[in-house]
Amino acid sequence: MAKAVRSVVFPVAGRGTRFLPATKASPKEMLPIVDKPLIQYAVEEAIEAGATRLVFVTGSSKRAIEDHFDTDAELERALTDSGKDELLRSIQGIVPNGVTCIYIRQGEPLGLGHAVLCAKPAIGDEPFFVHLADDLIAGQPGCLKQMADEYAQHGGSVIAVETVPPETTSSYGIVAIDTNDRNRITHIVEKPAPDVAPSNSAVVGRYLLAPEIFAKLERTGKGAGGEIQLTDGIADLMDDAAVYAYSFDGVRYDCGSKLGYLQATLAYGLAHPETGEKFRAHVMSLAAELQGGPG
Ligand code: UTP
Repeated sequence: MAKAVRSVVFPVAGRGTRFLPATKASPKEMLPIVDKPLIQYAVEEAIEAGATRLVFVTGSSKRAIEDHFDTDAELERALTDSGKDELLRSIQGIVPNGVTCIYIRQGEPLGLGHAVLCAKPAIGDEPFFVHLADDLIAGQPGCLKQMADEYAQHGGSVIAVETVPPETTSSYGIVAIDTNDRNRITHIVEKPAPDVAPSNSAVVGRYLLAPEIFAKLERTGKGAGGEIQLTDGIADLMDDAAVYAYSFDGVRYDCGSKLGYLQATLAYGLAHPETGEKFRAHVMSLAAELQGGPG
């Protein structure tokens, strides 16, 4: 039977250059969507999938993430004294009892593959999730839970994929899939040009990986963009073990890009119990105005 997945790695050591200057002194994973930072959505998704050990691979300017998941006794006292019980609950429940946070430093952002390798001492010989918080996925249940359920059926490693416009393949890891063998991946390549891409099935920021990936990453050299790529380590893993593609049920927002971030803010703002109704009225009147209607 497939082992339970207890650990999740959050690589949060990237530079976030596409979001400068916002990310100069503050991590992109702390960018809020309505009232929660991206990394909190990530943690909630992982806990829903059964993770109890949260491993953050951090870099410079990432202290805010540690502070966010730490207890703030002074703030809790102030909210208690002023009777703001609902706000108090919103900060107390961020990391539930029984869930541990571990922080590991990636000295230099050498690439996603290197960031995952940095987590090896905290993971050991167990399967684990990797979650990229800037890929926000609205799904019911969350994407990692869907992947854990899929994994329970056949073991191996599982990677979330989605179909992307063919002209955008050079922004993603791209896979070829054997649909006769439970969508087993037969080929994976990082950022191929559209004319050489094996398909337009793109890897998105959710992985469930067998621990054998670490030995592969230890010998993975620099790849696309001069970075140590997780994709290249996975390509190596596929020589010895099954890696499956999983088409998740949900909507993905690329919050590492400005447009994706704005689209997520719009969708989550419309769905939020506190802002939804008034925000919808505002968006409708704005839409009418843009269309030249009465507004
Ligand atoms: P990205 O390439 O999307 O993130 O990496 P980036 O480098 O932070 O952003 P841009 O492209 O400069 O705007 C995907 C994920 O991998 C992490 C990032 O934090 C992000 O979550 N990452 C990337 C690391 O943790 N370490 C690295 O060396 C590289």
